[in-house]
Amino acid sequence: TYVVTENCIRCVYTDCVEVCPVDCFYVGENMLVIHPDECIDCGVCEPECPAEAISPDTEPGMEKWVEFNRKYAELWPNIVTKRDPYPDAEKYDGEPGKLEKYFS
Ligand code: SF4
Ligand code: F3S
Repeated sequence: TYVVTENCIRCVYTDCVEVCPVDCFYVGENMLVIHPDECIDCGVCEPECPAEAISPDTEPGMEKWVEFNRKYAELWPNIVTKRDPYPDAEKYDGEPGKLEKYFS
């Protein structure tokens, strides 16, 4: 599976949802996640994210993000259409510690 990671928070560019062939993105207040059981590992979303927030779970340290994506994909609504990014998305792109500071 591919997973959405911390740098999506307060960027939420949503370019990823437009390309997913199985529509497995889910949207919260300030972040998206991928449902790990629905993702078919095609990889097309990864290069689409301007924030480089999407990674395959084969990269080191991704276990916690798989569980995170699974948890919130079960709680949040599906998103299949691109929408406006978070306000001032560029300002938050790359900021460290976003999960602790901003996730809601
Ligand atoms: Fe969708 Fe493919 Fe990205 Fe999985 S890897 S979330 S199936 S676009
Ligand atoms: Fe987030 Fe990148 Fe998609 S910032 S909404 S994972 S395009």
